[in-house]
Amino acid sequence: MLEVRELRKSFGNNEVIKGIDLDVNDGEVVAVIGPSGSGKTTMLRCISFLEKADHGMIRLDEHQSDIVTISKKQIHEMRMHMGFVFQAFNLFANKTALGNVMAPLTIARRMNTDRAREMAMGLLKKVGMDQRARYYPGQLSGGQQQRVAIARALASGPSVVLFDEPTSALDPELTGEVLDVMKQLAAEGTTMVVVTHEMQFAREAANKVVFMDNGVIWEQGEAGAFFEQPKTERALQFLRKQ
Ligand SMILES: Nc1ncnc2c1ncn2[C@@H]1O[C@H](COP(=O)(O)OP(=O)(O)OP(=O)(O)O)[C@@H](O)[C@H]1O
Ligand SMILES: [Mg+2]
Repeated sequence: MLEVRELRKSFGNNEVIKGIDLDVNDGEVVAVIGPSGSGKTTMLRCISFLEKADHGMIRLDEHQSDIVTISKKQIHEMRMHMGFVFQAFNLFANKTALGNVMAPLTIARRMNTDRAREMAMGLLKKVGMDQRARYYPGQLSGGQQQRVAIARALASGPSVVLFDEPTSALDPELTGEVLDVMKQLAAEGTTMVVVTHEMQFAREAANKVVFMDNGVIWEQGEAGAFFEQPKTERALQFLRKQ
């Protein structure tokens, strides 16, 4: 469903993504792990067109394009089918939790307000935030804000949801509630790519692990097998340090 081929990205003469191939199948939860600076965030940003890649091909469902020459229209089309949850919660401060989740529905999907409100409330309920629908982000904890951000990412009915360390800005006691929501989504068959330092989450919720180091994917495969017996010395050493 999501296929990336030969992705390359340099900053100046520093090549940080060195020709990587990524495959994400329908319903799969892919944990992307690896040392700091290995290019995990850059990879996600290239896939979501927040960063312009230097080379590569991307396919999402029936849409396929060269990642460099892709048109604005095609980018828009592909982004409509992706959800994003990043480290910083990025909610609109001047909108309530409900307003934040409704925004993609009324704006991008041009849904009428009543229908959007109903759907947004359903999504807030899913992440356990329906009781706080009328709160503004500033009145919510980090964990609550991140759960609203997850509801918002789901609003457009994406084919795949991309997460970049969704819990790393949270106090430890708030991490669990966000990971629980993510595990629930995983169990429901939501297709997810999750960059994470939470090995426990990767072990419990991921079907597949992508291990990155120094701009290269060294291993990509079934999660159980990876944790049981990584194939590369790099991955072994990385896991020992966790
Ligand atoms: N905008 C930028 N300009 C220049 N260099 C950048 C930029 N963004 C990232 N880099 C470099 O690209 C490399 C990969 O960074 P990236 O943020 O993708 O790593 P990461 O795997 O997400 O690390 P972490 O686990 O710490 O989040 C790093 O060497 C970083 O310094
Ligand atoms: Mg990162």
